[in-house]
Amino acid sequence: MSRLNDKVAIITGSGSGIGKEIARSYAKEGAKVVIADFNDESLRETVAEFQKEGLDAFGVQVNVASEDDIQRMVDDTIAHYGKVDILVNNAGIGDEMQAAGNVQDDTWNRVIDINLTGVMRAMRKVIPHFIEQGGGTIVNMASISGLTGGRGGLAYTAVKHAVVGMTKNVASQYGPLHIRCNAIAPAQVATKFAANMSKMDQFGLEVATRGVSMMPRVGTVEEVANIAIFLASDESSLINGVAIAADSGWSAY
Ligand SMILES: NC(=O)c1ccc[n+]([C@@H]2O[C@H](COP(=O)([O-])OP(=O)(O)OC[C@H]3O[C@@H](n4cnc5c(N)ncnc54)[C@H](O)[C@@H]3O)[C@@H](O)[C@H]2O)c1
Repeated sequence: MSRLNDKVAIITGSGSGIGKEIARSYAKEGAKVVIADFNDESLRETVAEFQKEGLDAFGVQVNVASEDDIQRMVDDTIAHYGKVDILVNNAGIGDEMQAAGNVQDDTWNRVIDINLTGVMRAMRKVIPHFIEQGGGTIVNMASISGLTGGRGGLAYTAVKHAVVGMTKNVASQYGPLHIRCNAIAPAQVATKFAANMSKMDQFGLEVATRGVSMMPRVGTVEEVANIAIFLASDESSLINGVAIAADSGWSAY
């Protein structure tokens, strides 16, 4: 079955982790995928790996916090593949679990620029193309910290809630123009994400992880990619403006 045949999908942060698996799974479903990542080395490796597997992939080096880079990411995609049908806003960083009393301005600003403003900029850029071609789909990577209050640092929790809010706003306002916008809200997934946080706020870490023993299990990138395929494909045609918790029921408690 090829659920994304001939679709063109941009996946940000797809040089590793969840984004890489979403890109691979989309390509296996027939999509042409744009690997958009800040890390030039993992970006090149991913494109080469996919092409070796016979998948159709094209790489664009991008810092999602840069307006120029976002413009180039979408313009290069259209120059290379002729269109864009799916945008997955997945690139994101952690906030060292900084609790409100310990927030550092540089961490706050970086998390806002990448995890929030980057998502807005990419949506702002693709929406006119989607309108012109009669529709398109956006999948935003939120987090369980976008649905619950105490499981991350302040900045990360704030921006992931904002991503859920933007998802609903876009779905509501552009749904009538055949644009769907949904989000995935995973709990812990096995990637390098946590290891990339270097100087953890010890208080923040301690209070944010109090309930981890009740988390049924850590998710896999394949399980998150399965949700991302569903949300990008016509199988989810009736769904717009939701954030799907991908947490084995952890937040249901
Ligand atoms: N892993 C988890 O436990 C988990 C849980 C919930 C939500 N998430 C979210 O999933 C998304 C992906 O995380 P992951 O676990 O795959 O992490 P990861 O660190 O493995 O991958 C993130 C990717 O984003 C890229 N990136 C970082 N900053 C960028 C920038 N400014 N511009 C472009 N690319 C950039 C990195 O180079 C990397 O390839 C993030 O938005 C994260 O918040 C992760």
